[in-house]
Amino acid sequence: MNMSKLKNKVAIITGANSGIGLATAKLFLKEGAKVVLSGRRQEALDEVAKELEGDFITIRADISIPEDNKRLIKEATNHYGNIDILFLNAGIAKPIPTTEINENHFDETFNTNVKGPILAVKEALPFINDGGTILFTNSIVHQKGFEGLAVYSASKGALRAYARVLTSEVKSRGIRVNSIAPGPIETPLYGKMDLPQDVVEEMGKGFAAQVPLGRFGTSEEVANAALFLASDEASYINGIELEVDGGLSQV
Ligand SMILES: NC(=O)c1ccc[n+]([C@@H]2O[C@H](COP(=O)([O-])OP(=O)(O)OC[C@H]3O[C@@H](n4cnc5c(N)ncnc54)[C@H](OP(=O)(O)O)[C@@H]3O)[C@@H](O)[C@H]2O)c1
Repeated sequence: MNMSKLKNKVAIITGANSGIGLATAKLFLKEGAKVVLSGRRQEALDEVAKELEGDFITIRADISIPEDNKRLIKEATNHYGNIDILFLNAGIAKPIPTTEINENHFDETFNTNVKGPILAVKEALPFINDGGTILFTNSIVHQKGFEGLAVYSASKGALRAYARVLTSEVKSRGIRVNSIAPGPIETPLYGKMDLPQDVVEEMGKGFAAQVPLGRFGTSEEVANAALFLASDEASYINGIELEVDGGLSQV
């Protein structure tokens, strides 16, 4: 098997200490990339650093804070030089009924899922190599209408709209912009929803029952899609959103 699909490529991954981001960081390292793992908690980054092998650094940065995005790109490029792959994956998903939506919930969700990636791209663009690639972790939620996920779904819909414009704006540089839309994936995300464990479990069962493949996906299954889209194997794939959802959005 060819284990160097990303040989010497420089990749920045946000939300890399957990779930999809961590699985992708591991896979990218295995494929020869130099990886900047970013997350908002240094202790979580230190913890995962112990289990990683390859050429990587960790940089603490809160994606929702503009200054942090600036510093992330500065420190990453100071260390590795220009960027080949920018994987904006960090995100939060806290369910809340529409009648209880409040400004804090809205701001936290949009600052993390929309403002953060948009400003990170702005900071990174001067340092992304021509022919490089930008990847977003989106979600199938904006194609459906899952109860309780109004603000989260709106944030991912906004990110999708943004990605389309970005695809057009970077075309002269040959930079490909793609998104991944996971369905329900088994990650620590569900433990961060501020909901009781039994409610989360019920919600999980509900999602799994709707998926044609009848189960949650794994972070590794999403990481495989990220590798494909980031690699030269996807050289003519641009502007898409690839569902990795066991068929949930298609039925
Ligand atoms: N799991 C699913 O079913 C699913 C489905 C569709 C889409 N997604 C999307 O997949 C992406 C990754 O989520 P996941 O499922 O892998 O969940 P996860 O394990 O919770 O990973 C999310 C990562 O983002 C980080 N993060 C959150 N807020 C941040 C901030 N302000 N600044 C920097 N990092 C921040 C988290 O840090 P902490 O560890 O500190 O929280 C964590 O590292 C998200 O964009 C999510 O919307 C997930």
